[in-house]
Amino acid sequence: MRKTQIIGGRMVQWYGSEVEYSSLPLHPLTLADLVKHGRPPLTTPQLLSSANFTLSILPARLAHRIQSLQNLPFIVVSNPHISKIHANYIHSLSTLLPWAQHEITSLEDEIKFTEVMADLVQTHSNTISILARGFLEARKYISPKEVTRFLDEHLRARIGTRLIAEQHLSLHFSSQPHAEIMHESDEAPGFIGVIDTKLKPARIVDHCANIVGEICELKYGVRPSVVINGEPDYSFAHVPAHLEYIMTELLKNAFRATVENGKEREPIEVTIAPKDLHGDANAGEGHSNVGSNIRNTKQGNTDIASGMFTGTSTSTSPTSDSQILPLKHSTPGVTIRIRDRGGGISPENLAHIWDYSFTTFNEDQASSTLSGGGSGSGMDALNAMTGAGGDGGNSLAGLGYGLPLGRAYAEYFGGGIEVKSLWGWGTDVYLKLRGVGRVDRERE
Ligand SMILES: Nc1ncnc2c1ncn2[C@@H]1O[C@H](COP(=O)(O)OP(=O)(O)OP(=O)(O)O)[C@@H](O)[C@H]1O
Ligand SMILES: [Mg+2]
Repeated sequence: MRKTQIIGGRMVQWYGSEVEYSSLPLHPLTLADLVKHGRPPLTTPQLLSSANFTLSILPARLAHRIQSLQNLPFIVVSNPHISKIHANYIHSLSTLLPWAQHEITSLEDEIKFTEVMADLVQTHSNTISILARGFLEARKYISPKEVTRFLDEHLRARIGTRLIAEQHLSLHFSSQPHAEIMHESDEAPGFIGVIDTKLKPARIVDHCANIVGEICELKYGVRPSVVINGEPDYSFAHVPAHLEYIMTELLKNAFRATVENGKEREPIEVTIAPKDLHGDANAGEGHSNVGSNIRNTKQGNTDIASGMFTGTSTSTSPTSDSQILPLKHSTPGVTIRIRDRGGGISPENLAHIWDYSFTTFNEDQASSTLSGGGSGSGMDALNAMTGAGGDGGNSLAGLGYGLPLGRAYAEYFGGGIEVKSLWGWGTDVYLKLRGVGRVDRERE
């Protein structure tokens, strides 16, 4: 059954099956889900199983996002930017639906399916800045609280959707026939798709500190130094792109506060402390329950923003958990503390730091953006937006998405971010990330 609706001056069409998909419950995604097909180069059956797994979970996830967008006030979803995002989801789901009817059984089909995944990732790469712009323009019609509720869920869900699509893409490309001829892919020895099983947090911190340092110097003419201590040699299994995103955001905040507080001579201290996941029962023990306390609410699967109940953490997707290989040896994870002398956060501001679009950055510029001034000023603020995979980010601060989105990434696989402010002195930020099982052992 085909339905037509006019949204934002655009005619959109969708099929009855999309509504069906949006009523399917979603299950939490674990890092174990992503590594269960094995270490690349994958055999043909493994690659097909990755494609079919991907296909079994994406349509319902996209349909939930469409539903959630459609449940925004009509005038909000009619905004051209928000309606563009809605159209992108409709487009992606409609390219996937013909695939969802049957299993992928040949390499030829798998190649075509991979093209669909590439298109999906590409189509949604600028979502964050487009949505930010849309919600800025529609601010008269929707409260900041509702925007935060919608974005928190939507952007969390987007993390999972991207990860699933990118994992298949990455497994596909590292499993091409040429990969087998190459000697044991020296370039990325510890990688299983987008997961690095030997991820060294210190290396990411160093890389991000250089990038943020450059941006800081451009803006302020000075840059504080970063000192890494603790256990810089520690490595664990995680998604480097996620750590990179979070670390960039936290360092940007620390650099900006330090310089604005006139303390650029005081180094920012980053401490790498393995395994401290405070009272986490799973932390030291390696069992198959690596993702057992990962909840749907942390992954944006609950549709609270759209007022719909779509299942609990115990629900299963079309692919059941029983297909997930047990991970015998888990690496518990890491706590990274970022300590700055930036003067801390005032108690009244502290209450708002997790709201999307709460910022103390350049109020004049922000308000000229809000008043819908020239597109130039709007672009300045929007250029400050960053987002893992796609959205640019060459400003130190901007629209107040860094902390809430950073926390969404951290919480996605059961970690978290805590901010402790010593008002008048500085800020300590604790980033905790859980590792996935030590997959090297899987093959033994
Ligand atoms: N380390 C810190 N020291 C002092 N204030 C901080 C620190 N980290 C965050 N803040 C305060 O919290 C606010 C929100 O931070 P957040 O990272 O979410 O947004 P932003 O930095 O303003 O913009 P964006 O991160 O989107 O570029 C900041 O504007 C700042 O006032
Ligand atoms: Mg920030």
